[in-house]
Amino acid sequence: MDAENIVGHEQAEREKLIELLNSDGAVKEELFRNAREIKQQEIGNRVHFRGLVEFSNICGKNCYYCGIRRSNKNVRRYQLTDEQILDAARFAHAQRYGSLVLQSGEVESPSFTGRIEHLLREIKKLSAGTLGITLSLGEQQREVYERWFEAGAHRYLLRIETSNPQLYRKYHPADPLHGYQRRLECLHALKELGYQTGTGVMIGLPFQEPGHLADDLLFMKDFDVDMVGMGPYIEHPFTPLYRFREQLLPLQERFDLALKMIATLRILMPDINIAAATALQAIDPMGREKAISVGANILMPNITPGKYRNDYALYENKPCVDEEPDECLNCLDARIKLAEGEIGYGEWGDSRHFLKRRG
Ligand code: 5AD
Ligand code: SF4
Ligand code: FES
Repeated sequence: MDAENIVGHEQAEREKLIELLNSDGAVKEELFRNAREIKQQEIGNRVHFRGLVEFSNICGKNCYYCGIRRSNKNVRRYQLTDEQILDAARFAHAQRYGSLVLQSGEVESPSFTGRIEHLLREIKKLSAGTLGITLSLGEQQREVYERWFEAGAHRYLLRIETSNPQLYRKYHPADPLHGYQRRLECLHALKELGYQTGTGVMIGLPFQEPGHLADDLLFMKDFDVDMVGMGPYIEHPFTPLYRFREQLLPLQERFDLALKMIATLRILMPDINIAAATALQAIDPMGREKAISVGANILMPNITPGKYRNDYALYENKPCVDEEPDECLNCLDARIKLAEGEIGYGEWGDSRHFLKRRG
């Protein structure tokens, strides 16, 4: 194919994606059906758990959309102790969750690096190396990612939030701490170091058009990601983006758009891991199950001890804030059965895409 044809081809693919994202009625149902079939063929109906530990809401950044941004003084900041984090890991291990995600606000410091390194080794030890560990700790130096990889982390989630640099600027302060380029470099570093690399975007942000979302999907494909977590943007009153709330799509439409994004991505990248984002459930009580039925295959049950959950409020209406980890487990077990899925207990559930990519 010559260069002009390739460009033409990409343009056609973009148009097709936009069409799918705008679809409604029978066309939308067809999209969902296709995605479901592809998932069934490539992955089957097994859903894998990642126990999510939101171990601290202390964050050095100031993203305009996020409820725990540094300048929000209404947040009660907390930090789990090492022992509380290890207890959560023991719970995940005992319940045969397969893997764990450690998530917190973004902190870059030698003591933070050392602490995570220590925790990674302890979690590996307490589970005799069996518990898979994903990190979601934002942008860090390459050497930091390297140390954490050596200490036992093998997956990393870093959402690009939007793949469009101009839009990125609208959602973040214009300072060196919030640069698009650095985020992209971090994603490349993670991949080069051997992590299963995950990214994602928010759906239904102000100023965001279907064309941007189509570009986000193409970005994921071009980057050749292993995992994706993406969900609806939900406005938070104590954030700068809140003033654009009247320009937003109604919540139900944002939810629907998120499902279409998941289904379209499943068709575009049949063998990656796609998480059913918790934010889906903030809009629809059956949100995560619906995502599973249109292509998602990963669930992240919150295993943060109950009393801290309320304080990790990135957005409003976050589900499960009054529940304890074992309550969520029972609840999810029933929910997955209802969605005709099967839980892959005790399995890592690695991205097949990653396994193939690695060869
Ligand atoms: N609505 C939805 N998702 C949000 N996140 C942060 N703030 C919001 C919000 N208001 C997402 C971002 C971030 C992840 C941890 O949570 O995509 O990467
Ligand atoms: Fe901090 Fe992440 Fe929220 Fe940005 S999105 S303010 S980095 S917790
Ligand atoms: Fe937490 Fe249902 S998953 S209560």
